[in-house]
Amino acid sequence: MINVIKVKDYEEASDKAFEIMKSYLKPGKVLGLATGSTPLGLYARMVKDYKENNTSYKEIKSFNLDEYVGLPIEHPESYYAFMHRNLFDHIDIDDNNAHVPCGLGDDLEKNCREYDEMIDNDPIDIQILGIGSDGHIAFNEPGTAFDSKTHVTDLHQSTISDNARFFDNDISKVPTQAVTQGIGTIMKAKNILLIATGSNKAKAVKDMIEGPIDEACPASILQNHQDVIVIVDEAAASLLS
Ligand code: PGA
Repeated sequence: MINVIKVKDYEEASDKAFEIMKSYLKPGKVLGLATGSTPLGLYARMVKDYKENNTSYKEIKSFNLDEYVGLPIEHPESYYAFMHRNLFDHIDIDDNNAHVPCGLGDDLEKNCREYDEMIDNDPIDIQILGIGSDGHIAFNEPGTAFDSKTHVTDLHQSTISDNARFFDNDISKVPTQAVTQGIGTIMKAKNILLIATGSNKAKAVKDMIEGPIDEACPASILQNHQDVIVIVDEAAASLLS
């Protein structure tokens, strides 16, 4: 069941997301984290809250959704580096508890299996999600099986184009594969908080909430999850009836 919260703009979406996240910032909780532009406002608020209120992450664990294949973790656009730059380096989370999938090495399948096992051992209390303009969640592109586990995937051309802005606007520099939690993995999270802002998300938001549950729109499976909150700004909500 999807509960929709409509807000004015990105700043209000980030405020609302933080308000919800705040109740999970407690010892023993497991956070599911995302990269991309969408959660930056939320992470900035978590950092501010840590500094002002000493909210400790020492006994909190986290699992990120995805990582590019073949990008060294020191590369500024690796999701490992993104998370450290925007969140982990500014709070007291233990590095060993802040998991990002590994897209390096010769046995990516093994990395994927181990990642799923870790999540099964520490189920995610709240999963933060963005949504792609094609309806993807994490790097699960249209057509991905709804019961997929963590796996290696080819990125669609639209996702490569969307992400070129982080690689000097040079499509040839964008990795073409990623390791991603599967849709089945994401659906195991106890609660899901998806944030969508901007008019380029309007079609995907409509398909997710009002469309048929169909692998053509990966996010549409969230209609079957028992606890999903979707925060949308006016632009992203503009096609909702
Ligand atoms: P964005 O990406 O947050 O950068 O818009 C979302 C996504 O592709 O899942």
